[in-house]
Amino acid sequence: MKVLGIESSCDETAAAVVCDAPEPEDRILSNIINSQIQLHAKYGGVVPEFAARSHAKVIDKVINEALSQANCTLDDIDVIAATASPGLIGGLLVGTVCAKTISALTNKPYMPINHLEGHLLTCCLCNNIDFPFMALLTSGGHFFFVEVLGVGEYKILGKTLDDAAGECFDKVAKMLGFEYPGGIAIQKHAKSGDPNRFQFPIPLQRRPGCDVSFSGLKTAVKNLISSFDNLSYQDKCDISASFQKTVVHFIIKQLGKALRMSSHHPKTLVATGGVAANSELRGALTAFSSQHNLHFYAPPLPLCTDNATMIAWVAIEHLSSGYPIIPIL
Ligand code: KG4
Ligand code: ZN
Repeated sequence: MKVLGIESSCDETAAAVVCDAPEPEDRILSNIINSQIQLHAKYGGVVPEFAARSHAKVIDKVINEALSQANCTLDDIDVIAATASPGLIGGLLVGTVCAKTISALTNKPYMPINHLEGHLLTCCLCNNIDFPFMALLTSGGHFFFVEVLGVGEYKILGKTLDDAAGECFDKVAKMLGFEYPGGIAIQKHAKSGDPNRFQFPIPLQRRPGCDVSFSGLKTAVKNLISSFDNLSYQDKCDISASFQKTVVHFIIKQLGKALRMSSHHPKTLVATGGVAANSELRGALTAFSSQHNLHFYAPPLPLCTDNATMIAWVAIEHLSSGYPIIPIL
């Protein structure tokens, strides 16, 4: 089975052809991503109207490239899958209308896909992983601790009460005057910083459960920045490193609670979504996993952030396990 996946929910126009080969390394036949980073960089964040216009401009080219890189035509495709939610409505419209049009013209099924389920199952595309597993889904707009019991069976143990971690990285980077997107910028500048120079409060210390909150941390960074008359580059690096260390420490702390709350004793931990590309977080999750006897998986860096292979893969997972597509998160 070959699926054409289309992703356009935020600032990447992506298309991919993925098949259901038994070995993970044989599954991705193509993966094309047209990033809008340059378009949005001067505004310090995604401008939805510009994003939608850019998706509309390039989507046909991106799909054609995905087909040609996979060495196939629409005749070889069995299903067309596109991100239907959540995301920016202009981009979602471009992707889903395009997918539905191809579906109508070729008489092949269209499957609307939940973007978060895409992130959640990316590690199953890249590795043959047994259920159940514990997942940390941390992207620009969402944060969840989820017990993945099977395809379509997701038990949310914790979530953010306000901002997502990626959003917090982006806003702190903007406050420091760093380039967009902020997560990568913070990680880069933190490498030259002292993570112990500033102590930020750990959120939700006394709250039961494993929910998270990042807006207080963002305010703490804002207050610290305004206490300076002049921020040197070294100050900015030290703030980045101290902030990143706090985020990682907080996520690990809440993950420990999530693991204790899980009733299915998962033997595997999966981290996914854009923030899972963060090297400090990946290092801390690797250490956490070995302490707790868990196998740890995170997608390769280009598949942590938005892409269309994950969208095609959700369609394959659902079709191969006979589950209907259910909007879950
Ligand atoms: O999953 P994603 O591509 O898009 C959403 O579905 O939101 O995640 C994008 C988010 C952005 O907030 C970006 O700053 C963050 O992931 N990000 C990172 C890193 N790379 C991307 N955050 C921290 N460290 C990174 N290396
Ligand atoms: Zn995403």
